[in-house]
Amino acid sequence: MNKEWEKWTDKETKEFQDQFIQWYEQEKRNLPWRYNRDPYRIWISEIMLQQTRVDTVTDYFYRFMEWFPTIEELANAPEEKLLKAWEGLGYYSRARNIQAAAKQIMSEFDGKMPQTPEEISSLKGIGPYTTGAIASIAFGLPEPAVDGNVMRVVSRLFCIEADIAKASSRKIFDEAMRKIIDEKHPGEFNQAMMDLGSAICTPTSPKCETCPIQAFCLANKRGIQT
Ligand code: ADE
Repeated sequence: MNKEWEKWTDKETKEFQDQFIQWYEQEKRNLPWRYNRDPYRIWISEIMLQQTRVDTVTDYFYRFMEWFPTIEELANAPEEKLLKAWEGLGYYSRARNIQAAAKQIMSEFDGKMPQTPEEISSLKGIGPYTTGAIASIAFGLPEPAVDGNVMRVVSRLFCIEADIAKASSRKIFDEAMRKIIDEKHPGEFNQAMMDLGSAICTPTSPKCETCPIQAFCLANKRGIQT
């Protein structure tokens, strides 16, 4: 396959990053897990957001932080209270995994969220996407956070034809993201991808005329974005 991202010059890459980050700073949604870089808040929000929409997650997130303000309180909470906090979100294994990971953090990491991708991904319920999200947003590491939305955006940007429904396709999107991620603002970059995918680069009828990175998009250039 054609790895179009390998053709980008450093100058082009830098222009792309600057435009994209500038757009994010102007347009970013005001969401409660974006108030600071607390890794605990980032972790819980990313787990909630995996199968649930942003609008629904917001109320659950506030209540969760009120009921379990620290990793320690989460680790020691009765399971009924945890499941009560999760009621309505579905996929209850997520809640159980969160508590198992909280206990792991208490016993293996002295109660502090681990900071390297290897250690983060050793926690129960944390896969490659969540590892990348926590590492980049909370710790500023240049790690991609590749979910379905990001795969769609990147597939259009570089005309990648790999089937985004296949697990084996992840690798190629990960590779492309590592080439283009802004190493100075990785958390902002990843969240800009998420915002772009949810508001502009949507599955059907993408709003290319308002897209901040339209000039860089190969699918748009070829007229095959839909
Ligand atoms: N979806 C998944 N993670 C998100 C985040 N950090 N902000 C907005 N939407 C998201």
